[in-house]
Amino acid sequence: MSEYDLMTILEAARWAPSAFNSQPWRFIYARRDTAHWPKLLGLLTQSNQLWAKNASALIILVSKATVLPRGAEKEVPSWSHSLDAGAAWCSLALQAHLSGWAAHGMVGFDRERAAVELGVPDGYRVEAAIAIGRRGDKSLLPESLRAREQPNDRVPLAQLVREGHFGSTQS
Ligand SMILES: Cc1cc2nc3c(=O)[nH]c(=O)nc-3n(C[C@H](O)[C@H](O)[C@H](O)COP(=O)(O)O)c2cc1C
Repeated sequence: MSEYDLMTILEAARWAPSAFNSQPWRFIYARRDTAHWPKLLGLLTQSNQLWAKNASALIILVSKATVLPRGAEKEVPSWSHSLDAGAAWCSLALQAHLSGWAAHGMVGFDRERAAVELGVPDGYRVEAAIAIGRRGDKSLLPESLRAREQPNDRVPLAQLVREGHFGSTQS
């Protein structure tokens, strides 16, 4: 994957909306066959490494946990830094798709080790890992992963949407 293609995808993430326009997202990346690749790949769980080793780029998404509200002099804890980073992830995934790539989010990685090995300072939260690659043929996957390559469903809207009150916690 060229640096240009990757930056095009990250450029879309950069334009995501965020509280106070604070843009708390940070992206630490490695492209395959570069010096940093083994470090980022090595943070993933074994099961994620199985398929992500064939990806073209890996990104660790980090968010800044404090924000400077408009007119304030001191940073305060941010209510929405993770939500904002999630918006950036979604923009990234949509741009990847538009550009002919696929983006796959992961929480299956060692977040504590990521913070240490990637030099993430205090006050930042390691949010997620992201693999970007070309959609491949599922016959190339190990048997255990091949079975998972089915379209996923979603919970019906009626279970998620409530008018005016949260309602029962049963559903
Ligand atoms: C934040 C996040 C973390 C995820 N973590 C993993 C992961 O560690 N390993 C994995 O194989 N898939 C992971 N996924 C993929 C989800 O399992 C997948 O998006 C979900 O099952 C819905 O499938 P679909 O996106 O193909 O519709 C993750 C997705 C997101 C958004």
